[in-house]
This record gives sequence, C-alpha cells and structure tokens, in this order.
Amino acid sequence: MSKQIRKKFLILLFITICVITLFVWNRPTSFNPRPVVPEVCLRSVSKESITPLKNTKHFLVSAYMDQRVQGFDIRLIGMFRRDSVQELHCFFCCAGYTSETTPAKILQHSDNFGFPFVTTDVMCQIPKTCNATHVTLLTQTRPENRTEYVWLPIRNKKTNGGEEKRMDFTVCVSSLFGGYNNVLQFAQTLEMYRLLGVNRVVIYNTSCGPDLDRLLQSYSQEGFVEVVSWPIDKYMNPSRGWLFSEHGGDIHYFGQLTTLNECIYRSMERSRYVLLNDIDEIIMPYQHDNLKSLMDELQKQHPNVGVFLIENHIFPKHHFEPSGRFHLPKWSRVPGINILEHVYREDPDRQIYHPHKMIVQPRMVEQTSVHEVLQFFGQQYKVPLDVCRIIHVRVALRHLLKLEELNVDNRLWDFEEKLIPNVDKVLENLGFL
Ligand SMILES: *[C@@H]1O[C@H](CO)[C@@H](O)[C@H](O)[C@H]1NC(C)=O
Ligand SMILES: *[C@@H]1O[C@H](CO)[C@@H](O)[C@H](O)[C@H]1NC(C)=O
Ligand SMILES: *[C@@H]1O[C@H](CO)[C@@H](O)[C@H](O)[C@H]1NC(C)=O
Repeated sequence: MSKQIRKKFLILLFITICVITLFVWNRPTSFNPRPVVPEVCLRSVSKESITPLKNTKHFLVSAYMDQRVQGFDIRLIGMFRRDSVQELHCFFCCAGYTSETTPAKILQHSDNFGFPFVTTDVMCQIPKTCNATHVTLLTQTRPENRTEYVWLPIRNKKTNGGEEKRMDFTVCVSSLFGGYNNVLQFAQTLEMYRLLGVNRVVIYNTSCGPDLDRLLQSYSQEGFVEVVSWPIDKYMNPSRGWLFSEHGGDIHYFGQLTTLNECIYRSMERSRYVLLNDIDEIIMPYQHDNLKSLMDELQKQHPNVGVFLIENHIFPKHHFEPSGRFHLPKWSRVPGINILEHVYREDPDRQIYHPHKMIVQPRMVEQTSVHEVLQFFGQQYKVPLDVCRIIHVRVALRHLLKLEELNVDNRLWDFEEKLIPNVDKVLENLGFL
C-alpha cells in the first residue's frame, strides 16, 4: 500500500470515529428506544372498556401490573359467568415477540348477590425474559394458528422516568345509567368536592339524561371529571337492583362492583386516596376544612390503616329548610335537587345493618365491594360520625320519622360563600341560568 493511500485511510478512519463519538455523546440521556410491539399485537388492541373474551362467555375490562402478591405480576379485571369458569392461560406481547403462555389463577370475588356474572380477577406471572406490553387469555396452553386475539394494554407499568406527581384524592363514582338528569345536585356535589380538595372524579357512564350529559362533557373537557364509557347494556342485561332473587338480570347494579375495582386500580399509581361513594353522596369532614387535613390527622393516629369506613347519613329530600334562604330563584329552572335546602338528617336505625362508604389507600386494597373491602393489606378503621360522615340527600329511608325526630345539620352552609358562586359559574357557562 502506498503511503498516500495509507494516509487517506487514516484520516477517513479518524473522521469516522469522531462522527460516531459525537453522535453517541449527543444522544439525550433520556433516550429510550420504544419497545417494538409485534404487528399482531398492535393490530387488535382493545380500545373498549369491556372486551368479550374469545371462546368463552366472559368479558375482560382491564389489565394492571400488580406485584404485591408473591408469584404474580399481572392482575386482569373481568366479569366472568360463574357457571362456565374454565382453565385459562395468560398470553403476552413482549417487546418484539409473543411469549409462551403462563398459568392463570382465577379469583372470583366473594360478593355476587346471586347474579350469573361476578367480578373476577385473573392473576398471572410474566415469563422471565418478556418485556410485556399487552396481555390476553387463552383457553389452551398454545395460541391457535390464524386466530386473531384481542389484546389488553398493561397499565400501571412503572416507568424509569421520574415518578409522576401523585394526586391526593380521587372520587370513584360507579355506573351512571338510565336517564339520570339530576344536574343541580351533581354540580353542587362536584363543586363541594373541589372545595374539599378532591383532584379528580372518575365516573362510569352507561347512559344519562341530556342536561347531565352536557354538564359531564364540560367537566370532562376541563379535566376534573374522567368519564369512562361503560356500555355494559350492549353485552348483557344489567340489573337495576342489587339482589338477583329480587331484581333479576345478569349482573349486580350495572356492574358497580367491577367499576369500583377498576377505579381503584386505575388510581393506584396516581392518587394517594380514593373515595368510593355514589353520585348523590358527599363524604364530609365535620371538624376539618378539607379532606387533606382530615386524612393527615386520621393517618397520624392510625398509621397502619388503609381503609376508612364512613357512616352514611340520609337527608330526606321532602323536608325543606323553612327560611328558604337557599331557595334561589336563579336555580329554579335547573333540573335536580338543591342540596342546600335539605338540612334534616335521619338518625340511622342502629338495630339494623348500617352501610358505610369508604376512603381507601388504593395500594392497600386488592378487592372491594360497595360497603366494605373484600381483600386488603393493613387495617381498617370506623371513623366516628362527629369527625366525618356522608351527606346523602335522597328519599327518606325511615319514612316513619317525624320532622321533630330529625337532626338539623347544615354543615353544607359553612361553604356557601364559595360554593354558590362556583356552582353559578358552571351552570351559567352551560346556559342553565
Ligand atoms: C422494557 O421496555 C422498556 C420501555 O422501553 C425499557 O425501558 C426497558 O429497558 C425494557 N426492559 C428490558 C428488560 O428489556
Ligand atoms: C400451526 O402452525 C405451525 C407452524 O406453522 C405448524 O407446525 C402447526 O402444525 C400448525 N398447527 C395447526 C393445528 O394447524
Ligand atoms: C354517556 O353515555 C351515553 C350513551 O353512550 C352517551 O350518549 C353520552 O354522551 C355519554 N356522556 C358522556 C359525558 O360521555
């Protein structure tokens, strides 16, 4: 080789090394190649909140990373038909390929109230070398050739990037259905929750009335409300009641138990506490201005508690506060109940079962029902009613009580100065006033 060519070669080599070095050095430190998801997985990822499971009578709802129980990595939440539970196998999309299957452990929740469908958890292990992005269930240990499976994305995966800022409080409201159009009570309740420090309200929508729909759209655009579409009536005949023997149907109360569980897992990585209550209930601190100071104190007194039980108290809607102070003419054309006008509270009948609602730390809950958790870590605590209770304006429960036998409780009025203008603003923007 001539000297000339050798020199040229060395210069070229030097330049090449420089370019490569520069390129590598300049790569942003957070550069993270996206995992290559196999085509077959991308093609059929479920975008719905209810997904029929192939070759079975069951439905899948969502899949979450959950490594709190030893030996398992994934929890799928579903609605399973109790009379046809069969062996199942988890099948994963890994970054780049589909995995072999792993055995699935099927856990039916203990509360089914006699209905054919029950909320069911399916627990699985992810194969060792698989960087799982999606999961589905098979009825066999191997996938069938030419079968297109529908995949669920795996949520709550810990990202390597900095932990997302966690919210303090999320309210989970299950199953909105029928033509529910109680706009005034809903706007007042949401604005009350905002004043109490709630960051987000998650609500599962099967259907609702036209005015409430507008209100929800607006809250959801703003981000305070997260509406999850819940078209359960497309897949089964959901019951409007809670007991199969009395009300019939395929599943308890439009799938309320499934949505409450789904909401806990949806909130697990992003919210410190979750409030589980109905759309017409307000979990109200009576000695604190907001939920944060209430929970800071309760948690300091009871550090191992992850489930706080709150008593439900009923304010019959047919008794009105006599002065008419909050009977505001501007609200007269807004559909729904004005909760500020109802200040008479029933004493619960303590001879019979008294239902609670709950504030929970989602990370300490595995399975929940409506009035109690079914499986959890840590302890639970019944919060005294003078510290916190639920304001629930509705039809009377104890019809026989006379007005004199009810308690005057106008705790809501303590918030009137902010509550009324905030409610007005929302209603005005939507043209209700
Ligand atoms: C899995 O994928 C994530 C996301 O791209 C990546 O950060 C991580 O390094 C991968 N893990 C393995 C073991 O390949
Ligand atoms: C499925 O495909 C594999 C590989 O192409 C083949 O070896 C196998 O026999 C097929 N199985 C069935 C049941 O068709
Ligand atoms: C709730 O669901 C019904 C029925 O699908 C739909 O018409 C309505 O727009 C939904 N409302 C919101 C706020 O998503």
